[in-house]
This record gives sequence, structure tokens and C-alpha cells, in this order.
Amino acid sequence: MKVNIGITDKNRQAVAYALNQLLADEHILYNKTRNYHWSVEGPSFMEFHKLYEGQYTQLAEMIDEIAERIRTIGHFAEGRLKEIIKLAQLDEPDPPSEQASQLANLIGDHETIINRLRKLIKDFDEKHKDIGSSDFATGLLKQHEKMAWMLRSYLR
Ligand SMILES: [Fe+2]
Repeated sequence: MKVNIGITDKNRQAVAYALNQLLADEHILYNKTRNYHWSVEGPSFMEFHKLYEGQYTQLAEMIDEIAERIRTIGHFAEGRLKEIIKLAQLDEPDPPSEQASQLANLIGDHETIINRLRKLIKDFDEKHKDIGSSDFATGLLKQHEKMAWMLRSYLR
């Protein structure tokens, strides 16, 4: 059935594509955070093991919300792993077990996503006339900012 929510087809398509690209990178960050939860070593093992679990659980929730936002504006979310990898832009370097390297890598990914979201928030509103997706992206931005702060707080 036709989606009639006051956003042109072209704009809904552009927003859905940008959200699918974001969804792919959230998958990479989710998987990386979970991998670090398994591989971390060092004196604060349990601290990091639990920290990462909290963050990948939050990322899983965000992934679900992004996919459902894409459905809300009338498109399908990319759910195939092979296609997700093609869409994703974040790197997956060999997993370090050392805590400082893991933190730096995760912070870098959060910051990449934060900077992209900052642009999407503006584009969704001004360019694509989709204030709902702009507001939604603002919520994601704040969650990533807080997660990045938590990770950054272990480093000086
Ligand atoms: Fe676990």
C-alpha cells in the first residue's frame, strides 16, 4: 500500500538508503564490541567484559530501531550479512586483546558515526523534508556521544 506521510518517494528513498548505510556500520560496531567482550585481556578484564556487554546490548537495540525506522518510511531494511558488509564503511582491523587499543578503536568508530549523524540530521530535515528521521537521528547521536564518553573516560 502506498505510503502517504507527506514525504516524496524520492526523499523517502534517499533517507532509507542513508539509514541502511548507517545500519550496516552499526552492525560492524556491534560485532566489534561483542568481539572485544570475548577477547579482552588485562588487569581490568571483568570491568571491560561488562562494559562491552552493556554497549553491544544497547547497539543491538539501536540496530532494531534503525531497521524499524526504515520500514516506517516504507522501505526494507538490509538484513543480509553479505549485503551489510558491502554497505558498511567502518574498518575491522585484527582484533587487539589489549584494552587501550580496543578503546581507541571503538572511540574512533563512535566518532565516525557521530560525525556522519550530525550531517544526516541536517540533510534529513532540510534536504529530504523528513523531520521524523532527523529527530530519530538526533536520538542516535546522543546515544553514541554518551557511549564514546564512557569509553574515552578510561583513557587520558
Ligand atoms: Fe558474554
